[in-house]
Amino acid sequence: MTVKLQIYKCEICGNLVQVFQEGDGNLVCCGQEMKLMGIQYDTTEIGEKHTPKVEIKEGKKFVNVIGHPMTKEHYIQFIETFTIDKKELHLKFFNPDEIPEMKAFINDSDDFNSIEYCNIHHLWGDNIMLENEKGDYSI
Ligand SMILES: [Fe+2]
Repeated sequence: MTVKLQIYKCEICGNLVQVFQEGDGNLVCCGQEMKLMGIQYDTTEIGEKHTPKVEIKEGKKFVNVIGHPMTKEHYIQFIETFTIDKKELHLKFFNPDEIPEMKAFINDSDDFNSIEYCNIHHLWGDNIMLENEKGDYSI
């Protein structure tokens, strides 16, 4: 069974998919079940930065993962924000050498979560989500 906005990866071909409609079945790719990408959290902020951060610039909210490498071998593939009720989401993809930052279009509310996906270290959530969900959040 899937849950809305979960992200699954095929460990053979690398397909990465996100669930928009929940279903009872398991997702299969290349003849085997896809792996659920669990959300990781880092409250220590020691070493490599993976935690999405919300910053306000000139009254507008931005989400970034500045401090993480953006090389061809190791980079942030995308940042996504979504409202707590999962009715609105905003997704931005990045190429290596780009700044991993996007304008959060959900400007009238603090009630949104941020996740980011690193091509090596996979899926990370922001500390707001960790706080809201008591650490066991799984989309
Ligand atoms: Fe990383």
